[in-house]
Amino acid sequence: MAGSGTTLVECKLLGRRAVGVDINPDAVMVARNRLDFSYVPLDADYVTPEIKTYVGDARSLDLIGSESIDLIATHPPYASIIPYSHDREGDLSSVHNIAEFAAEMNKVAQECMRVLKPGKHCAVLIGDTRRNKHFVPITPRVLMSFLEAGFILREDIIKLQWKMKSTREKWFGKKYDFYLIGHEHLYVFRKPGAGERVTKFRESMKWW
Ligand SMILES: C[S@@+](CC[C@H](N)C(=O)[O-])C[C@H]1O[C@@H](n2cnc3c(N)ncnc32)[C@H](O)[C@@H]1O
Repeated sequence: MAGSGTTLVECKLLGRRAVGVDINPDAVMVARNRLDFSYVPLDADYVTPEIKTYVGDARSLDLIGSESIDLIATHPPYASIIPYSHDREGDLSSVHNIAEFAAEMNKVAQECMRVLKPGKHCAVLIGDTRRNKHFVPITPRVLMSFLEAGFILREDIIKLQWKMKSTREKWFGKKYDFYLIGHEHLYVFRKPGAGERVTKFRESMKWW
């Protein structure tokens, strides 16, 4: 779900090796184009990292070996709020039903669990929406999809949104600090370490 490659560009600047996957070939082309720059860092130890991209499905990362990844940073569609393609097979931004979307995100979570090294982290940026003038909770369903896959919730970081359709929506105008969907969640999950006793983290794990 690398999209146009923002995270991959940051990887290049930070000297991190990375692999970016997206279902949409157009997005992968844009990402490759954005990565095509030379960078002269101040840090003398900097080595230009290897950044790979490929067109693939986050539910089946067929080119990525099990327990080979140190950190996952993923940014899924928020169900069908923004369609990223026109009915491309496998594009989760075409899934309107939130229960179906959560089931597909559970497949993504299982695949993240497979490729991640034990004890390492998976960060997921996700937001909610409103339909028919009512709040539609997407973030708790995605949270549960990852806990279902066996992850431990390490952090729930709130990212304030600035580029909204209007500006940041406030309840009854500007006077009070009560926001209507003014944020996204950056969930940071941890895969249990090999043989780690996780009982003490049970309140941060699947509870149902
Ligand atoms: C919110 S955007 C990511 C934006 C990204 N942060 C960027 O810098 O452009 C979600 C991305 O998920 C991709 N996507 C949707 N379903 C996918 C799937 N099954 N596997 C991989 N990528 C998928 C879409 O093509 C879209 O590029």
